[in-house]
Amino acid sequence: MSVHIQAQQGDIAETVLLPGDPLRARWIAENFLDNAVQYNNVRGMYGFTGTYKGTPISVQGTGMGVPSISIYAHELINDYGVKQLIRVGSAGAYQKDIKVRDIVLAMAASTNSNINRIHFNQDSFAPVADFELFTRAVSKAGLLDIPLKAGNVLTSDIFYDADPDYYKRWAEYGVLCVEMEAAALYTIAARFGVRALAILTITDHVVTGESIDAVAREKSLKNMVNLALETAIN
Ligand code: ADE
Repeated sequence: MSVHIQAQQGDIAETVLLPGDPLRARWIAENFLDNAVQYNNVRGMYGFTGTYKGTPISVQGTGMGVPSISIYAHELINDYGVKQLIRVGSAGAYQKDIKVRDIVLAMAASTNSNINRIHFNQDSFAPVADFELFTRAVSKAGLLDIPLKAGNVLTSDIFYDADPDYYKRWAEYGVLCVEMEAAALYTIAARFGVRALAILTITDHVVTGESIDAVAREKSLKNMVNLALETAIN
């Protein structure tokens, strides 16, 4: 058992899907995996392992934000030997041509978190997606007929920003959307030399104020999870 995950060695697969919401982890396990077994319950941050088309896959909730996903990603890799981590998350759009329900691959993740500034003595590390996972996701999306957007995203420490114009500078520089975890995931994966990719569904629009209804959210999430699983099994 690690500090925050109550699993035995061998309980967690080499590939893990990472939704922020632990209930989403349970929904993925129940609806997409065969013979899923729960391995973690600590802090209600559920984790399950099952199989997808015969390949062992785990799904682990991460909680929200850089500190929380950093803990789970670190322990999954360092304590349980995980080699491929695929975040399946939500994001708010920063560009007019990105619509709610769109699926975005985070090629890179800019951030306003200070964690890497501290770690790299105020220099700026560029967290990027794993090239092989990224190209696999692009080709699987083609086979599944799932339209994709891909580019730079912002990993923000702030959900409720006091400045309504904060997004504009990022948007001017082509950042597609905002979420709260990808930069940390990419940085930790880089540190340990393992693969990571963030696949995001746009659930709200920061520019237009539009947001997704429950039915559309479920359909988009299914597309995202199918894409993540097909990417995971190669
Ligand atoms: N996840 C989904 N929408 C978001 C937003 N507007 N900001 C940060 N994270 C999000």
